[in-house]
Amino acid sequence: MSRELFPILSGAEGRVKCGNTQPDPASGFDAEGKPFYIETFGCQMNVHDSEKVAGVLMARGYRPVQTPEDADIIFYNTCSIREKAAQKVFSRLGAFRKRGGGERKVFGVLGCVAQQEAENIFERAPHVSLVCGSASYPKLPELLEELEAGHKRVTGLGLDTEDCFETEMTRRDNRFRAYITIIEGCDKACSYCVVPVTRGAERSRPADKILAEALRLANEGFTEIQFLGQTVNSYRDPSPLRMSFAELLSRMAEVPGVRRVRFTTSHPRDFTKEIVDAIDSHPALCDQIHLPAQSGSNAVLKRMLRTYTREEYLEKIHYIRNAMRDISISTDIIVGFCNETLDDFEQTLSLLDEVGYDQVFSFKYSPRPRTAAGHYEDSVPEEEKGRRLLILQDKQREIQIKRNRGCLGQEYEVLVEGFHPKLGQAVGRTSSNRIINFPGEPSWVGSYMTAKVTASGPNSLVGQRVTEDAGGSAKEWKF
Ligand code: 5AD
Ligand code: SF4
Repeated sequence: MSRELFPILSGAEGRVKCGNTQPDPASGFDAEGKPFYIETFGCQMNVHDSEKVAGVLMARGYRPVQTPEDADIIFYNTCSIREKAAQKVFSRLGAFRKRGGGERKVFGVLGCVAQQEAENIFERAPHVSLVCGSASYPKLPELLEELEAGHKRVTGLGLDTEDCFETEMTRRDNRFRAYITIIEGCDKACSYCVVPVTRGAERSRPADKILAEALRLANEGFTEIQFLGQTVNSYRDPSPLRMSFAELLSRMAEVPGVRRVRFTTSHPRDFTKEIVDAIDSHPALCDQIHLPAQSGSNAVLKRMLRTYTREEYLEKIHYIRNAMRDISISTDIIVGFCNETLDDFEQTLSLLDEVGYDQVFSFKYSPRPRTAAGHYEDSVPEEEKGRRLLILQDKQREIQIKRNRGCLGQEYEVLVEGFHPKLGQAVGRTSSNRIINFPGEPSWVGSYMTAKVTASGPNSLVGQRVTEDAGGSAKEWKF
């Protein structure tokens, strides 16, 4: 997945909260400063990091632009979780070189590829002059100033930064949902995963600071808060409050003006019943949990160093299914991990049936450098990985068709997140993270309303706004 940060300014989410992005008069730059462009690859953490980078640069007088052609400084905020994602930045850089016009521009590589490849990037792409990993973003303005001062190549690759990135300046891209990173890095060391290398050890933000930020965001008009962390529920409050993750969620749900709270991604090992109890007690905590299983086979889970068995994972699912509210569950699955047999794969398929996920993000295993599994034999051939992926996705599609059919005739509160002008349809999201498209108005974006489901498909629902005279017969949506 890739997502360009600035082009969406002109879309349905065009009215953007910029937070405190006034130029800092002490910085020596003026508001007509250099134009910059950021393209973001990868996960929500990266999307949010780009928001922070943009905020800090704008506060120094740099100016965001819509296209790389209009920019003097081009940043690629990169993802290295799989080989293909990591390659993207080099193909972007190569494409710019080929068509020319980049000679006077500054190219900066940010994020996970920067952290992983470090100075090697200068070898592979000699026109890059800045390489900076996520833990060093607070240093970005200094790095740019060093380039201004005549340095040819600058790097920010330290992972020991205790600094919490200055979130006050975050330039938020969505005007009703705000991300808050509550924990950075990852200590879990899953054998296939590069994140501990690229993002460093776990560092949690103090709970009082998180709550203060949420209050400020709610006062600015944001109604949905999403907590982010690679292992969000491994949160350990370093403040004297010593709040558990479940307590933090509960406190968050009580912040005036906050109507929805989501969190991603949870690690099964640290997933407690208290989290489910908190969701049950606080309607503002959304009926949605993302709990990556990665595999349904104990043998594979062991080689992945996931630190739980299928049975232990299912115990956590049991807590969720026993909740008073109907909570939707999504997961991540890797197929074709080293030595995954057909029997192992069958066990993953049976896990899908047993849990009945509402959404599955599935990936072919991709060996990564500097990971434990990078030294194992990548034994499952590429075509076989592809075959297993398709089988898994077909199965999940059937499961989603059935589960979404269960929503027919039901009424849900939705937050209207967008509007399709051509279709005249409002795009609403339920607390359980389902999309309901229904006839609406552009002015509804940002409002909460009730929609009744009239048709269902594997990935979304169709409905009608519930008003006095709203009706509509329930039918299956054909694709
Ligand atoms: N190959 C394939 N998928 C991976 N993921 C992480 N590392 C790899 C890898 N080397 C997947 C996991 C994780 C998601 C974000 O990406 O499923 O949960
Ligand atoms: Fe990677 Fe595992 Fe950490 Fe998730 S928990 S970021 S998969 S090492």
